[in-house]
Amino acid sequence: MTGIVEKLYNTGDLSDGELKALIGTDDTETAELLRRYADETRQKSYGKKVFLRGLIEISSFCKNDCLYCGIRRSNKDADRYRLSREDILSCCENGYGLGFRTFVMQGGEDSFFTDDFLCGVISEIKEKYPDCAVTLSLGERSYESFRRLREAGADRYLLRHEAASEELYRKLHPVEMSLENRKECLFSLKELGYQVGAGFMVGAPFQNTEHIIADLRFLQELQPQMIGIGPFIPHHNTPFAGENGGTLELTLRLLGILRLMFPKVLLPATTALGTIAPNGRELGLKTGCNVVMPNLSPVKVRKKYDLYDNKICTGEEAAECRGCLQRRIESAGYEIASERGDCIK
Ligand code: 5AD
Ligand code: FES
Repeated sequence: MTGIVEKLYNTGDLSDGELKALIGTDDTETAELLRRYADETRQKSYGKKVFLRGLIEISSFCKNDCLYCGIRRSNKDADRYRLSREDILSCCENGYGLGFRTFVMQGGEDSFFTDDFLCGVISEIKEKYPDCAVTLSLGERSYESFRRLREAGADRYLLRHEAASEELYRKLHPVEMSLENRKECLFSLKELGYQVGAGFMVGAPFQNTEHIIADLRFLQELQPQMIGIGPFIPHHNTPFAGENGGTLELTLRLLGILRLMFPKVLLPATTALGTIAPNGRELGLKTGCNVVMPNLSPVKVRKKYDLYDNKICTGEEAAECRGCLQRRIESAGYEIASERGDCIK
């Protein structure tokens, strides 16, 4: 199996059969080699730098009903909120002072956030903080909306494709949503000049190795600047409450594979990875990740942005994620970058 890792490291690609073997193995020697090569590759591209993105969770209202997600519209117990323009700007002010140079506005698909509203907020942030990047993660919108937001100054857009297999996509989103529209959004975003992030959950219900290979092939086609993956974690108020979550081992294996397939991609060690293991994000960093997205949302809403159970960094003590993460990043042997952290060409 280590021969397959050598090939992936040397060529950046594998056949479907080789990928299947590598994704499916639990051999620890293979895992260690993959980790070592992933770290080497990341260091060749980005050195020891870790880019921070201040995550502002602007709304927990969502019109969609993804079976896995805690803020799905059918979850009548969800405690909903949305941030005001003033709330968002004060998160940025706080974040700028803490050294963040990217702000990510993330939320459910909430029609309250019109193009006019968002364009106003985006241009105000860009005006106040011209050295910062603005990233949006607000789900599927029209081409015209993406165009206007880009024109207002948005630099990047995160929209996980969630599942590149038609069959799995439908099992996770049985109503209204379509893989076709999701993909179209991603290609539109690229065309409009956004730096784009796609990705998927690891260990989602019904997901098998073939589905994961389809995800990797789709990512090769899309060539996004960012790839977000994290373990599926069941949420108690969803139809998937009783399902198993994704494992640390498989998530790390896929992070290593992604780093070798996409040497220059921006790869976050996600909050979900930090939720399933106390040192999950550190292990991610050591396996090719180079981005961390600390929570910058007001402490009073953090528990309400409740995508999955036991999410970390939501308590009162989390008001200051910056210091905690700095210690974690440095103890893992990496350093926080002070710039915006765009994808290298
Ligand atoms: N477990 C892990 N990740 C989840 N997401 C949504 N629900 C869950 C869950 N239960 C992920 C989705 C989405 C991102 C914002 O969070 O992939 O794109
Ligand atoms: Fe939020 Fe550590 S990163 S408390």
